[in-house]
Amino acid sequence: MDADLLQLVAQRFGTPCYVYDLDAVAERVARVRAAHPAAALLYAVKANPNGALLRSLAELGVGAEVITLGELERAVRAGIPGERLLVGGPGQDEALVRRAAKLRAGLVSLDSAGPWPLWRAHAPGATRFLVRVNPGLDPATHAHLATGAATSKFGLAPAAALELASRVAADGRLAGFHVHAGSMLRDPELVDAVGEVLAPLYAAVPGCTLLDLGGGFAVPDFPLEAYLERAAGLAERLRVELVLEPGRFLTADAGVLLTRVLYVKRDGPTAHLIADAGMADLLRPALYGAEHPIRVVGDAGAARSEDPSGRSFDVDGPLCENADRLGRARLLPGAGPGSLLAVERAGAYGFAMASNYASSLRPAEVVVRAGEPLLARRRERPEDLWRLELDAAG
Ligand SMILES: Cc1ncc(COP(=O)(O)O)c(C=O)c1O
Repeated sequence: MDADLLQLVAQRFGTPCYVYDLDAVAERVARVRAAHPAAALLYAVKANPNGALLRSLAELGVGAEVITLGELERAVRAGIPGERLLVGGPGQDEALVRRAAKLRAGLVSLDSAGPWPLWRAHAPGATRFLVRVNPGLDPATHAHLATGAATSKFGLAPAAALELASRVAADGRLAGFHVHAGSMLRDPELVDAVGEVLAPLYAAVPGCTLLDLGGGFAVPDFPLEAYLERAAGLAERLRVELVLEPGRFLTADAGVLLTRVLYVKRDGPTAHLIADAGMADLLRPALYGAEHPIRVVGDAGAARSEDPSGRSFDVDGPLCENADRLGRARLLPGAGPGSLLAVERAGAYGFAMASNYASSLRPAEVVVRAGEPLLARRRERPEDLWRLELDAAG
């Protein structure tokens, strides 16, 4: 997004503020579809559940992968029809199951045998089931994101998956198997490794029609075409259609977090820019050590840094936590009090993980369509913090 637009957004809506370019999201959708037109594309809502963003995905005919009642309701509110919903996750409870059943959700991914009796009791005949398999692979990613590792809580080991799939198939409701090997995946060969685990399962329960390979496409520079070519080959060998659940790939690069520098501290061994956003607004650097590119947006009258040594800065937030940081050792020439910073690649797992820690007010969210910025969610106000508290509790 260009500097003039970001300056305008900051002036009009203040900082911190998330900005999402909906046209960039649509381009990503088009790229996935061009690479594999036959795949069912289900957006992983957890990456960014903003209503305006979901509505634009609904308009494009994209479905949704949801794991909570809240995500389910958001998807429906955005206009995604029941048949394009996949309900996944390891903690499907009765409220989620009943509501998804009422909405006639098209697909359910069973993470274990636990919720199967609930689904069996409530789901209409139109709902079909995938069994999530834990492939026991090293997906070569951050430990927090390695959902396909044998030690992770996700899915069932192949033998247990087969046992559950046989029960579901006996009811005539099995669609196939589901693997989400991890997030921030980069290696197309992972598809082959997943295929080796899945092939005997598909051979053992005939009649499957779908293979859900999850999401997990890394940003930036994911080899999408190579990955999907292998995925298409696997689907063809198994004689099934593909389901894909990307989250980050569709939204991360389309979003920035705008934050303003409040103060500069350079007395100690490390120079610090204290910004008005931090871990409460963007948790990923604190949670995963994630590296988001940060750049100065124009200068808009900012007081320039006087540091002649060209030293790098840690970009820190306003809270009393050492982990309250947006980036370490960043070269930000010209940054000083009042500078506007753009934290890039923040359109996924950004606002979605924002919190009210330290009674921080969650930032505004702005969407841009055809170059036009629109407020999609207003900045929280102090009264939003206690809106749900009950005076009767003293
Ligand atoms: C089952 C499942 N599908 C899709 C996703 C989306 O992952 P990503 O945003 O990395 O594409 C996740 C992420 O945790 C997931 O657990």
